[in-house]
Amino acid sequence: MDLLSILALYHMKKILIVANWKSYKTTSEAKSWIEILAKDNDASIKSTSKTVVVCPSYTLLFALANFFQQANLTFVLGGQNISPFQEGAYTGEINAKQLQEFCKFVIIGHSERRATFNEDNLVLAQKVTMAKQYNLEPIFCIQSKETFVPENVKIVAYEPISAIGTGNPDTPENANEVAKTMKKRYSITHVLYGGSVTKDNVKSFTNMSDIDGILVGSASLNPLSFLSIIINA
Ligand code: PGA
Repeated sequence: MDLLSILALYHMKKILIVANWKSYKTTSEAKSWIEILAKDNDASIKSTSKTVVVCPSYTLLFALANFFQQANLTFVLGGQNISPFQEGAYTGEINAKQLQEFCKFVIIGHSERRATFNEDNLVLAQKVTMAKQYNLEPIFCIQSKETFVPENVKIVAYEPISAIGTGNPDTPENANEVAKTMKKRYSITHVLYGGSVTKDNVKSFTNMSDIDGILVGSASLNPLSFLSIIINA
């Protein structure tokens, strides 16, 4: 392959960095996260060619949309979950039509949703259908290469359970093998790696041929460690 083709290939890979805040942060905590992250580091975030998606609790979406605008940040918002139903009499649910007012992406099938809230393949496929109907891009989490992926999913996040919140990430080589397999098996365009990603190991994952980004939990809660992840990715 000649140099130009190699460069073209390199530019085609636009890294996707997704922060999963889980059930953390109040509005004032979210505000100070943005203030710290944006302060003095404007140039490095603004010039980044990477796409940064922040997935907070629903209660923070409205405020965060405004904070990003005020701080001139090009970050986009994602949901952490979505109702499998249309709008209607479903007390406590947030549906795709509501979420698309704020978000471009939505995480579906996180292992915490599967384990704690008993979400199965059927309900996850319904959620993907709802997201697609309202132009939300699902970030579909898989726990191994055997995990079922519903039709039309373009972005998958490979997160082995043993790596989530443990400080014990998978190896980049193994994650890359999973990414390759999933791309061969389904019409997936992006595979992210998630599970104990830090500023020190992020590059070892994004350097791999078939890994197109990362999904970050714990290390995204601290603005400075998340900023280092963006810079190092
Ligand atoms: P972690 O979480 O980065 O804290 O391991 C990742 C996730 O649960 O998405």
